[in-house]
Amino acid sequence: MLVVEDLICEYPEGEGRTVRGLTLPSFRLQDGEAWGVEGPSGSGKTTLFHCLAGLLSPTRGRIAIDGVELTGLTEPERAQWRGANLGYVFQEPKLLPFLTVAENIRLSARLAGKEASARRIRDLLAEVDLPDCGDRFPRQLSGGERQRVAFIRAIVREPRLLLADEPTASLDVRNSRRILDLLLAYQARSGCMLLCASHDPAVQERFARKLELRKEEA
Ligand SMILES: Nc1ncnc2c1ncn2[C@@H]1O[C@H](COP(=O)(O)OP(=O)(O)OP(=O)(O)O)[C@@H](O)[C@H]1O
Ligand SMILES: [Mg+2]
Repeated sequence: MLVVEDLICEYPEGEGRTVRGLTLPSFRLQDGEAWGVEGPSGSGKTTLFHCLAGLLSPTRGRIAIDGVELTGLTEPERAQWRGANLGYVFQEPKLLPFLTVAENIRLSARLAGKEASARRIRDLLAEVDLPDCGDRFPRQLSGGERQRVAFIRAIVREPRLLLADEPTASLDVRNSRRILDLLLAYQARSGCMLLCASHDPAVQERFARKLELRKEEA
């Protein structure tokens, strides 16, 4: 279970004089639940995900995942927690440029303590229509192709908590539907918790439960 309570994130602005504070919603996500995350641009979806990933420490509030207080861990402890529990599809696919597609995927699995065979990587890539891309480098792929690889890189870890930040933003309708099918199939099969942020109504309608973020007036 994921428990999020009274989160406030403050970003320093300019010379540290002014601070922008975001108040994020409190919620509880049970095991096996998948929620859509909605809200206008700038409402804090990515900020919330960065907090849940332990990449950003909220100024105030509490995050607990499976009884572990993420907000109470040190940075090395958070890194270890991420390795074992988290899958993250970033809004901008962050593949390592000097590794091939297959090596990016293999490294991600390894950081979660798992081994992904060449066969498994090929099968996963085939599921997103990229059967022969394992030996290519990220720069040799289009934006949408990189996003599909980023999706495989997140699920090959078999995470407990899967965060997908606009996972279909640069995909055509067919591949967008395909990624959503795979995301939800993985979620149903693994029983993980899934949060998926998207502006796309076709994505949001696949989620029965929603978390709505509001943009605060400056
Ligand atoms: N590193 C940062 N420093 C200062 N302000 C930031 C930083 N990151 C985000 N913000 C601000 O926090 C607010 C929320 O940003 P965030 O990226 O979480 O929004 P979002 O809901 O993901 O938007 P989008 O739909 O465009 O991706 C915005 O006003 C943004 O300018
Ligand atoms: Mg965002």
